[in-house]
Amino acid sequence: MILQRRNRILRQSAAIRSLVAETRLSPDDFIVPLFIDEGENTRIEIPSMPGYYRNTLDLTVAEVKELWQMDLKSVLLFIKCKDEWKDNTGKEAWNPDGLMQRAVKAIKDAVPEMLVMTDVALDPYSSFGHDGIVENGQIVNDPTVEALVKMSISHARAGADFVAPSDMMDGRIGAIRKGLEAEGFINTGIMSYSAKYASCFYGPFRDALDSAPGFGDKKTYQMDYANRIEAVKETLMDVEEGADIVMVKPALAYLDIIREVKNSVSVPVSAYNISGEYAMIKAAAKMGWINEDKAILETLTSIKRAGADLIATYFAKDAVRLIS
Ligand code: PBG
Repeated sequence: MILQRRNRILRQSAAIRSLVAETRLSPDDFIVPLFIDEGENTRIEIPSMPGYYRNTLDLTVAEVKELWQMDLKSVLLFIKCKDEWKDNTGKEAWNPDGLMQRAVKAIKDAVPEMLVMTDVALDPYSSFGHDGIVENGQIVNDPTVEALVKMSISHARAGADFVAPSDMMDGRIGAIRKGLEAEGFINTGIMSYSAKYASCFYGPFRDALDSAPGFGDKKTYQMDYANRIEAVKETLMDVEEGADIVMVKPALAYLDIIREVKNSVSVPVSAYNISGEYAMIKAAAKMGWINEDKAILETLTSIKRAGADLIATYFAKDAVRLIS
């Protein structure tokens, strides 16, 4: 054959492939989620997330120092609240001496340059395991937003660089922005979980924090996975209300949404490579059915290729090891 164009020329060696690669992972891309518990010197492996741990605060601080050494520069904090502190108002969420508030201070004291983001949602604090206040079996929007504003302000006061509302109540980004401004926290950013879907893939995370909904599901506030255009509507509204960074979550079954959102906004887009996505790779690798390291790189690259500027992932440390 005499061909005018041979596409395989650009694939024939590792050198040429790396020269023309369109997407590259870097430690700068990653946000590391951390699960924090009360107590001392204890780490508990999350059964459905092998190799991932819930650490007491002292061990979390040590972990953060290690992350910084690895060039990982942002963390996203989640805490496990004791059962006796859970109620339907979620008021432990804005306790100035709460675990989240202590964690932010301790991490900022130990590694001041680490970017600290905090999860803002009531579910770990809710006796019902819902992201909002429950009245007559309904998750009530506006009283929940008031609680989220208090929670955000208390995180900012503790020193959080960003608050990350993951609850999907209407109007919360605007209300949080207003609240932060009113209290003088003009440098605190908001990373909004803008297009967050009601997903079965959150299961392992709910194991990690003991935060599974006690009744029903989250479909009256998280989005229906049948919808794509709605993600754009949600995201544009959050940008309008003051979100600095928007997010699509989950990531893998939602790569089309990541691209759609990326093409629709001019703020940075993050994606959350969530617990169930982690668990699937771990489980298949354990069975010997896929190569774990290769699956990690392929997955994270696909999320970035889809349009994510940043990725929250439990694989951040693995990824840094694999790309360096
Ligand atoms: C809850 C929250 C969830 C996750 C982050 N924040 C679970 C849920 O909405 O039920 C999931 C993260 C993961 O699965 O890795 N506000």
